[in-house]
Amino acid sequence: MSQLFSPLSLGQVTLDNRIIIAPMCQYSANNGAASDWHTIHLGQLSLSGAGLLILEATAVNPEGRISYGDLGLWNNETQQALGKSLKAVRQYSPIPIGIQLAHAGRKASTGKPWEGIGAIAPGEVNGWQTVAPSAIAYDDKSSVPKAMSQDDIDSLIKDFVSAAKRADELGLDLIELHGAHGYLLHQFLSPLSNKRDDNYGGSLENRMRLLLDVFKAVRAVFPSDKAVGVRISATDWVEGGWDLEQSIVLSKALDELGCDFIHVSTAGLSPEQQIPVKPNFQVPFATAIKEAVNMPVIAVGLITQAQQAEDIISEQQADGVALARGILYNPHWPWHAAAELGATVTAPKQYLRSSPHGQPSPIK
Ligand SMILES: Cc1cc2nc3c(=O)[nH]c(=O)nc-3n(C[C@H](O)[C@H](O)[C@H](O)COP(=O)(O)O)c2cc1C
Repeated sequence: MSQLFSPLSLGQVTLDNRIIIAPMCQYSANNGAASDWHTIHLGQLSLSGAGLLILEATAVNPEGRISYGDLGLWNNETQQALGKSLKAVRQYSPIPIGIQLAHAGRKASTGKPWEGIGAIAPGEVNGWQTVAPSAIAYDDKSSVPKAMSQDDIDSLIKDFVSAAKRADELGLDLIELHGAHGYLLHQFLSPLSNKRDDNYGGSLENRMRLLLDVFKAVRAVFPSDKAVGVRISATDWVEGGWDLEQSIVLSKALDELGCDFIHVSTAGLSPEQQIPVKPNFQVPFATAIKEAVNMPVIAVGLITQAQQAEDIISEQQADGVALARGILYNPHWPWHAAAELGATVTAPKQYLRSSPHGQPSPIK
């Protein structure tokens, strides 16, 4: 019997199977507000048969967007627009839906990837002043960020709390805090980007403080029957940067605070990174963290084959697997995986006749 298609509980949220749709920015929002694109895109993914759909990195304030096209959740307009897309999706799919709450820090203020313009300087069209733990630019093409004051930090935590309340009002089942890929919370974790000499910099305990404070504040306002977890980059892939050892300390601290899951990615903090990309390349980080914590651990990164995903779960290398590019390429990836592994997935009744070539179908 397939383990990939066995249920998984993230806190009190139960997924039908262990396939998770990873957050994927769409750069298709207007002033942070979801557009018809989101309804189409999320609608498509919601019919995939996956166990959980995590919405793209969603900025908790306008300066926290990677690009001017990023999704946001900071006022009534952004909340209503996302609510409209979610209402359409919910009407036809029972899939649990989570949201990744994010702030891009020094990696904010860029064009959309397909525009190929990269960082946009403050004062230019669609550009703004970025913020970060320290006034260190990501690379020589990016603007120097403003080092955040204590007031900036207090207001950032309030923005996460406010977005979490809005996420609850939207009926979302889960929050994933974006502590990965070199964005603001990761910038505080890594000694390469955090050179502060206050309570938020220096020792590992101090560098972890902001993420833990944000976690506690969000957990306190998001209902206890809904899940709050964290995505991290388990290594910067740079000598002297954030690494697995520190990730294990952080994961244990989150576990003790009642974190419902940890989603283990890597990289994104520094242009110096050297990543040995290949199938499963991030899975050993998830496995090492799984050995140290009680909460469920999600692995991600070049997991593209059904048997590959099944092996990760059945060999207990991770509790869940997240897919990004593979499920964009094939939005019915879970259907095909179920067919291959002898399992079933739920599909809308409109699609019940979709069995190919008259063969038995994995959908029910
Ligand atoms: C189009 C696209 C958008 C992405 N946006 C996000 C995002 O919003 N938040 C995030 O944490 N990761 C983001 N990622 C990274 C993915 O979630 C995932 O970690 C990465 O693509 C590796 O998984 P894969 O090999 O299955 O694609 C994005 C990836 C893609 C391809």
